[in-house]
Amino acid sequence: MRINVKTGMGEYPVFIERGGLSRLGELFSLDRKCMIVTDENIPQSLVEAAEGACGEAHRFVITPGEHSKTLASFEACLEKMLAASFTRGDCVIALGGGVVGDLAGFIASAYLRGVDFYNIPTTVLSQVDSSVGGKVAVNFRGLKNMVGAFYPPRGVLVDLDTLATLPPRHVAAGLAEAVKMGLSLDESLFRLFEEGDPHAKLETVIEKSLLAKAAVVEADEREGGIRKVLNFGHTLAHAVESESHKGDSPLYHGECVALGMIPMCTQEVRARLIPVLEKLGLPTACPFDYGTLISAMGHDKKMKGDSISVIRVEKVGEYRIDTLPFTQFAEEVKGLKL
Ligand SMILES: NC(=O)c1ccc[n+]([C@@H]2O[C@H](COP(=O)([O-])OP(=O)(O)OC[C@H]3O[C@@H](n4cnc5c(N)ncnc54)[C@H](O)[C@@H]3O)[C@@H](O)[C@H]2O)c1
Repeated sequence: MRINVKTGMGEYPVFIERGGLSRLGELFSLDRKCMIVTDENIPQSLVEAAEGACGEAHRFVITPGEHSKTLASFEACLEKMLAASFTRGDCVIALGGGVVGDLAGFIASAYLRGVDFYNIPTTVLSQVDSSVGGKVAVNFRGLKNMVGAFYPPRGVLVDLDTLATLPPRHVAAGLAEAVKMGLSLDESLFRLFEEGDPHAKLETVIEKSLLAKAAVVEADEREGGIRKVLNFGHTLAHAVESESHKGDSPLYHGECVALGMIPMCTQEVRARLIPVLEKLGLPTACPFDYGTLISAMGHDKKMKGDSISVIRVEKVGEYRIDTLPFTQFAEEVKGLKL
């Protein structure tokens, strides 16, 4: 399947194709210098397959995890590109999850004011969500995605075979973002999770998630309005995430999104959401006190002055943006018991 995503700078194809990596050179124009940004957990066979499609392949390998999404990694990769005399006609390829994609895209956006960027996502989260939409960034001074750009890729290849080695907990965490898209934007996507085994329908889940995301980012490329719906569940998720990172066994981002969505739904919607989260092995009970979470929310980007915008789902497949005083939101959340 091919989805074309329109941007202010043109459009780009997203190919959803099992085994597509073996056709990479046919799908994208890679007969040039290519910097493949990847991480140590990505199987060598995948890296070598990507390299085989490149005119002149170079590798930049990061240590897996969020702590590599930094200006230090950004700079180290730029150094490599400069040393190898990359020109404006060359390109950067992300081969990995959302961390690799966000970092590689930011590198591509900056080198010589922008070179072509291709994304080959290898986690469920990056296949259903982060590889499309053009947001690229690194973390800075402890703040997530603090420095970045809107820089659409030239093309995205979603090859489901690359997920074969992804640990099940990461699969579930990535699916939380697809549940988010179904719950807020597309009831038929949400029903894929309710009926039968969602893993057996992964290709359709990915397609529907990307179609939903593409429609939103096409309508609002730079998050001036409806793109905020993609933050459904994320206001509380970010607070849960920072709290959980203080302990020894941090929750994954998708697990925090699962917990963050629950309070933002009506009772009726919650009654459909919770069995889906349980089926996927995602948490449904928040391990932290909501009062503690509220006080940790100072840095949330959705806070404007004294008010906060949150997404609410009152009917599956539809959403409402609610802007309310932060104190009112805090009262509502503090009283929650999940
Ligand atoms: N740009 C966007 O629009 C957007 C949207 C959502 C999230 N994000 C970002 O995405 C990041 C999270 O992405 P993620 O969940 O993919 O995390 P990740 O990139 O850290 O990948 C998760 C783990 O899976 C491993 N991995 C990746 N592919 C693998 C494979 N095929 N086999 C075995 N292991 C594999 C990685 O090494 C890592 O340990 C965050 O930094 C978040 O900010 C960006």
